[in-house]
Amino acid sequence: MQTILTGIRSNSILTLGNYLGALLPMVRLANAHSKDSQINIFVPDLHSIISEVDGDLRKNTIRTIKYYFAAGLELNDNVHIYRQSHVSAHSELCWILDCIATMGETSRMIQYKEKSKGSESCNVGIFNYPILMAADILLYDATFVPIGEDQFQHIELTRNIAIRFNNRFGDIFTIPAKTSDQIKFMGQDEGIRIRDLLNPEKKMSKSTMAENSKIMLDDAPEKAAKKIMSATTDSEGKIKFDMFNQPGISNLLQIEALVNDRPLQEVINEWAGRTQYGELKKKVAESVEALLRDFQAKLATISDDDILAVLEKGEKYANEVANAKLLEVQKAFHLR
Ligand code: TRP
Repeated sequence: MQTILTGIRSNSILTLGNYLGALLPMVRLANAHSKDSQINIFVPDLHSIISEVDGDLRKNTIRTIKYYFAAGLELNDNVHIYRQSHVSAHSELCWILDCIATMGETSRMIQYKEKSKGSESCNVGIFNYPILMAADILLYDATFVPIGEDQFQHIELTRNIAIRFNNRFGDIFTIPAKTSDQIKFMGQDEGIRIRDLLNPEKKMSKSTMAENSKIMLDDAPEKAAKKIMSATTDSEGKIKFDMFNQPGISNLLQIEALVNDRPLQEVINEWAGRTQYGELKKKVAESVEALLRDFQAKLATISDDDILAVLEKGEKYANEVANAKLLEVQKAFHLR
C-alpha cells in the first residue's frame, strides 16, 4: 500500500493561504485515498523551533490538528496523526542523513538562503531543516507528499539523498515521486500559491503587517469578506487568469475554485472576458465568508481530548513503523 504523507507547522494561526494551498487539498486527497493508501498527517513541531513560536507550541499543535478535522478529514484505520517530537526516530534518522547529504546541496536551498540571509548567527537548525524533513518522509516510505510549492525543492533534495543512500546500501528507502508527479497527484497544473490581497505579486503570509493583506482562519467571516472586497486588482479591465500581468484577479479566481472544490479551468472559463471586477470580488467574498463560517462552527465542536485520543493511537503506529525503518538504516551502517 502506498503512503501519502504531509505536515504543516503550527507556529501560529494559519492563513487562508495555508488552508487553501496546503491543508484543504491534503484533506481532500486523504479522504479520496484513505481506502487504498496509508495517510500520515503529522505536525513537525521540531521544525517549529527554528524560529519564534506565537504562544504555546503544544497548544498550537492541538489546534492545527483540529483544523484538519474542521476541514472535513475523515478518520479510518489507514489515517495516522502524530507529532514529530513524539517519534524520536525522526531526530535519529536526521543525524544519519546529515552524514549522507552534502554541504553544497543543502546550502542551495532557497528557504535556507532566505531565512539565513548569509548571517553567521543563523541557527544550525535552519540549515538542517530539509534533512529533518527528509527523515520525516523516508521513515515511512512515503511516495506522495502533498505540500505547497515553496517546499518542492526540499522534496527534490529528499529524493537525491534517498537515491544516494540506496545506491550505497541497497533498496532501503522508497524514493518519493518527483515534483511533476507530485503536482499531478495533487490534481493541479502547478503548485498552489495564494497571494497577498494587497500585493498580489507576493505570497499571502501571516507575518505581513497589513491586516487587509491576509485572511486568518480565526477572522470573523464578515471581516474576511471585506478584505476580499478591498483586494488589489489591476487596470486591464478584463477578467483573465494571468498570474504575471493580473496577479490580483488570478488570485481571486484561484481562491474561488479552491473554496468551492471546482477545477480552476472551469472557474476561469466561467469568468473569462467579463469586465466587472466588483462582481467577481462579491462572489469570492461570499464564498470565503461561507467557508469560514462553516469551518469555525465545526472547529468549536472538537475538544482537546478528542485530539489527544487520536494522537495516542497515531503515535503508537508511527513509532512502530519509524523504529523498524530506523533499525534497517542503523544496520546498514553497522550501528546495530
Ligand atoms: N517544511 C514544511 C513546511 O514548512 C513542513 C514539513 C516538515 C513537512 N516536514 C515535512 C511537510 C515532511 C511534508 C513532509 O510547510
